Amino acid sequence: MSQLPRHVAIIMDGNGRWAQRRRLPRTAGHKAGVNATREVVEACGRLGIEALTLFAFSSENWRRPREEVGMLMELFVSTLRGEVKRLDANRVRLRFIGERGAFSARLRRQIEEAEAITADNEGLRLNIAANYGGRWDIANAARRIAERVAAGEMTPEEVEPERFAAFLCLADLPEPDLFIRTGGEQRISNFLLWQLAYTELWFTEVLWPDFGSAQLEEALEAFATRQRRFGLTGEQVRGNG
Ligand code: IPE
Ligand code: IPE
Ligand code: MG
Repeated sequence: MSQLPRHVAIIMDGNGRWAQRRRLPRTAGHKAGVNATREVVEACGRLGIEALTLFAFSSENWRRPREEVGMLMELFVSTLRGEVKRLDANRVRLRFIGERGAFSARLRRQIEEAEAITADNEGLRLNIAANYGGRWDIANAARRIAERVAAGEMTPEEVEPERFAAFLCLADLPEPDLFIRTGGEQRISNFLLWQLAYTELWFTEVLWPDFGSAQLEEALEAFATRQRRFGLTGEQVRGNG
């Protein structure tokens, strides 16, 4: 593929509607979504994409019915337990971004173990955004910078975009080149706000449980046709401006 994104970020949406269309409980959609996730992770590894960031649970998703939230938490625990071995064998390096303090001790332990087991892997960097919010990420960075300033380790003048970005989640990775949202909605829903500043956006009606390597390749093909200008003119980007 001519132009492969280094970093892909996905809002995995539409699990609930997938289930409702089959007259199943919404939770069945989340279970089906795990299979799609596995397929997409494997495809990204196979294609040589460097980083994949998946939105699994937003800071706003706590407001869903208690049973659904509880089931999602159980699903995170069981999926982690079931998948870590295979991810590790595929050299995937797993990281979670988001506020983990709200999770149960059991889930936190599971997350820490998964990160530790895969920490030295040099394949796909798989980031799971769980209890993540883009505004939380930015506010968190601002708080840490304020602490530095208060301690006299940084001056207010030093707070400019590049320094600021170093305090955000995923600061060690290139910003996402391609953003995908399944499920038909065309919004960011408090996912990576800062990091998506120049990301190419791609939306599909396909519901997450129906998404797989074929749909991923469709998005990658669309990405390859985009001209990323970063504020320049098209001529400048083509090198004859
Ligand atoms: C995305 O699917 C999964 C999570 C938010 C955890 P949804 O559950 O939002 O599915 P729809 O949007 O209701 O169909
Ligand atoms: C975004 O989906 C969060 C995840 C996919 C985890 P939502 O379904 O929660 O987003 P809204 O509420 O439709 O904006
Ligand atoms: Mg949704």
